[in-house]
Amino acid sequence: MRKSLFDPIEIGDLKLSNRIVMAPLTRNRASANGDCPNELMALYYAQRASAGLIISEGAQISPQGKGYAWTPGIYSAQQIDGWRKVTDAVHAQQGRIFIQLWHVGRISHPSLQPNGQLPVAPSAIAAKAHIFDGKGFVPTPKPHALESNEIDAIIEDYRLAATHAKSAGFDGVELHGANGYLIDQFLHDQSNQRSDRYGGSLENRTRFLSEVLTALTKVWPSKRIGVRLSPFSSFNSTADTNPQETFAYVISKINEFNLGYLHLVEGETGGSRELPAGGNIAKLRSHFDGAYIANNGYNYELAQSQIDRGAADLIAFGKDFISNPDLVERLRRGAPLNIPNQNTFYGGGAEGYTDYPLLA
Ligand SMILES: Cc1cc2nc3c(=O)[nH]c(=O)nc-3n(C[C@H](O)[C@H](O)[C@H](O)COP(=O)(O)O)c2cc1C
Repeated sequence: MRKSLFDPIEIGDLKLSNRIVMAPLTRNRASANGDCPNELMALYYAQRASAGLIISEGAQISPQGKGYAWTPGIYSAQQIDGWRKVTDAVHAQQGRIFIQLWHVGRISHPSLQPNGQLPVAPSAIAAKAHIFDGKGFVPTPKPHALESNEIDAIIEDYRLAATHAKSAGFDGVELHGANGYLIDQFLHDQSNQRSDRYGGSLENRTRFLSEVLTALTKVWPSKRIGVRLSPFSSFNSTADTNPQETFAYVISKINEFNLGYLHLVEGETGGSRELPAGGNIAKLRSHFDGAYIANNGYNYELAQSQIDRGAADLIAFGKDFISNPDLVERLRRGAPLNIPNQNTFYGGGAEGYTDYPLLA
C-alpha cells in the first residue's frame, strides 16, 4: 500500500505519528551561564512537537566538545535539568525527541575551550573554517592531535552524555557524525592522517565511530540510537579521496550495531543536492537495514516522491521547521510556508525563534 509522509511509522518499539522529522538545528540560545537549555528553548521545541520526531540541536558532550557560543551542553546537572524542561514540554504535546550528541573536534577556538587550550582532532591539521565565539567570527586554529588515552576519555564522555540524555528524558540519541565535526574528522582521509589504529585504513578510520557506538549501546537499546552522516558535504573543509567507498564501508560497519536509523545529509549541507561523480545515496543506503532518514533541500513533493519510491522512510526538514512550527499541518494542507529569517538563525531571543506565526 502507498505510504504517505503523514502515516505513522515504528522504529523498533518507538511509535512515531508521521514520517516528518525536525532536523537538528543549532540556534545558540542556551543560557550563557553554564550553556543550559532554558524555558525559551522548551517553548520552541514544544511548538514543533507535531513532527514525527524532533532531533535536537547539537549538544556538546563535554566542555571540550564546544565550538560556538551559547550552544547547550549535556554534561552538567544543570544542563540535564534544562533539557528535562525541553523533553517534558515536547512529551506534553505527544511529541518525540532525540538529542544530537556533538563533539566539534577541530571546529573550535581556544577562547571556547577549557583553560584556553587548543581544540582537539585526529591530526594536527587546521580546518579552513570560522567559528562564532560570542563576539565575532574567528578562524579555527591548528588543533592538538589526540593521544590514544585522550581518545579513550572522549569515548567515556560520549557514554556519560548518553546516560545524561536518559536522565533528561529523551526518547533516544542521534550521534552527530556529519558536517566535519570530530567523528567526521576521523572518517575523512584529509583530516585523519594518523598512523596508529585510528588512522590509515578504512577500518582504522572508522574505529573511533565504532567505539563510540559500542559505548552508546551500553546505555541505550540499539534501536534508540541513530547516526547522522554527510558523506558528500565539504562543510567545515571536509574532504575525502573517495567518499563513496569510505561511506559504503562506514555504513556497513554501523549496520552491525542494529541501530534504529541512519540519517544522511544528501549532498552539500544546506546547499546543492547534486553529488560528485561516483556518488550514489541509494547504494550507500543499501548497506543499512534499519530506517533511513533523508535530509537536505526537501519540499513536500520531493519528500513524498522519495517515500513513494521507497528511497527513504522518513524525511528531515531543517530551515522549514525554523520558520514553520506547524510544518506538518502546512504540508498536509498544502498551505504556504513562512520564509525563515537568516539573521536570527544563530543567537538572540524569541525573535525569529518562537514568534513564527501558525496557520490561521
Ligand atoms: C541554523 C542551522 C543550524 C544547523 N545546526 C545543525 C546541527 O546542530 N546539527 C546538524 O547535524 N546539522 C545542523 N544543520 C544542518 C541541518 O540539519 C540540515 O542538514 C540543513 O539545514 C539542510 O536541510 P534543509 O534543506 O531542510 O534546511 C543546521 C542548519 C541550519 C540552517
